[in-house]
Amino acid sequence: MIATEKTTEENGAAQAAVAAAWDVERVREDFPVLGQTVNGKPLVYLDNAASAQVPRIVIERGAKYLREEHSNIHRGVHYLSQRATSAYEGAREKARRFINAREARECIFVRGVTEGINLVMNAYGRKVVREGDEIIVSEMEHHSNIVPWQMLCEEKGARLRVIPMNDDGELLLDEFDALLNERTKLVCVGHVSNALGTVNPVKEITARAHKLGVPVLVDGAQGAPHLKVDVQDLDCDFYAVSGHKMFAPTGSGVLYGKAHLLEEMNPFIGGGSMIRTVTFERSTYAAIPDKFEAGTPAIASQIGLGAAIDYLNSIDRAAAQRYEQELLAYATERLSSIEGVRVIGTAREKASVLAFVLGDVHPHDVGTILDQEGIAIRAGHHCAQPVMQHFRVPATARASFAFYNTKAEADSLVAAVQKVVEVFS
Ligand SMILES: Cc1ncc(COP(=O)(O)O)c(C=O)c1O
Repeated sequence: MIATEKTTEENGAAQAAVAAAWDVERVREDFPVLGQTVNGKPLVYLDNAASAQVPRIVIERGAKYLREEHSNIHRGVHYLSQRATSAYEGAREKARRFINAREARECIFVRGVTEGINLVMNAYGRKVVREGDEIIVSEMEHHSNIVPWQMLCEEKGARLRVIPMNDDGELLLDEFDALLNERTKLVCVGHVSNALGTVNPVKEITARAHKLGVPVLVDGAQGAPHLKVDVQDLDCDFYAVSGHKMFAPTGSGVLYGKAHLLEEMNPFIGGGSMIRTVTFERSTYAAIPDKFEAGTPAIASQIGLGAAIDYLNSIDRAAAQRYEQELLAYATERLSSIEGVRVIGTAREKASVLAFVLGDVHPHDVGTILDQEGIAIRAGHHCAQPVMQHFRVPATARASFAFYNTKAEADSLVAAVQKVVEVFS
C-alpha cells in the first residue's frame, strides 16, 4: 500500500486528538511535587530518566504501611506481620501482571536494575561462564550493564564483546549477528538508552540470540516507565526494572527471570529468609523467589512499587505513550532550531530522552543556568561513558520527559537554553 502524505491540517487534527485523549493538567494534580516553585519559578522537572516523580497514591500507600502495617514479613504469625506480608506479596503479583510474567515467583524484588544485573552476574554468570567464553553488551549500555560483566570477564578469563551503533545511536544488528558464536554465554542489552533515548529492538535481538541458544538479559530501567513490557512476548530470559524510574520509591525494583533459570542459579546473598535448613555442615536454600531475597527487604518501597503499578493501570497508558512521543518530537524540533545545539541521539525509535550539547558551553553550565530558571535537567556522562566516547563529547545536557510534562515546559526549556546562548555569546 502506498502511504499518503498527511496535510498540515490533518497533522494538527491528529495532535489535537492526542492532546484531547490525554488531560495532562489533570494528571499533574496527581503529583504533588510538581506544584512547587524553584528559585522563584515554577518547577519544570525534566530529570525523569534519573528518577521519576511519585503520585499521591504511592505516597499515601507508603504512609499507610508505616502508620498501620509496619512489621517484618514472612516469619510472623501475628496480625501486623500477616498484613505486611500480604501487601508485599500482593505487590509481587502486581509486578507479575505488569510485565506479564508467567508466575509471581519469577519476579525477584531488588533495589533496582543495578542490583538485578549484579544478581544475574553473580548467580548465573559465575556459574556458567568459563575461560574463553564471551558476553555481549552494546555500545550504549549504562555502566551497570557493563561493569558487572567486565568484573566477571576478568575473574573468568572471558571476553566482553560490544555491539556497535551508528551516529544516530542505533545498534548495528548485522554486527551483532557477526559477534554471536558458540562461545557466547549471554547477551545483555538495554531496552531504552538512558543517554540517547534509543528504543532497541530487544525482541529481535532476543530471537537472534536464541537461535544459538544464548540467553538474553534486558536492562529495562528506561523501558518499563515508557513502554508496555511483556516479557513473554519479548521472550527475554531476564528483565530488570528500577521502581524509582517508574513513579515508585527508591529501593524498589524487580528482576524477572525465567523460572527454570532462576531455579538452577546459586543464591547471590546469603542469610535469613533465603534458606530451607541450616546446620554447621551445610545449608539448603529456599525456593524462588525467596532464595534471592536474603534479609529484610525494602518492604515499604516494594509495596509502593505495587501502588505505582496500580497508578499506571489506572491511566490510559497507550494515550500517555502517544502524548510523550508527541512532546519529545515537539521539544526536539524546537530545541534543534537554536543555533549551536547538537542533539545527541537521533534514532528513529526514541523514548523520553532529549540529550544535547550547545557549542563549547559545558553541559554543567547549561544545567546550572537552567536550574536558576527552575528547570531540572541532568548534565554529565549519564553513567554511559562509552556513549560520550562515541560522540566525542565529554558530557551532554539531558532533558527527559514523563507523561506529566507539558509543551509549556518544553517551551521553558527552549527559552532557558536561549538564555544560556546569550550568557555565553
Ligand atoms: C539504562 C539504565 N540502566 C541502569 C540504571 C541503573 O538503575 P539503578 O540506579 O536504579 O540501579 C539506570 C539508571 O539511570 C539506567 O538509566
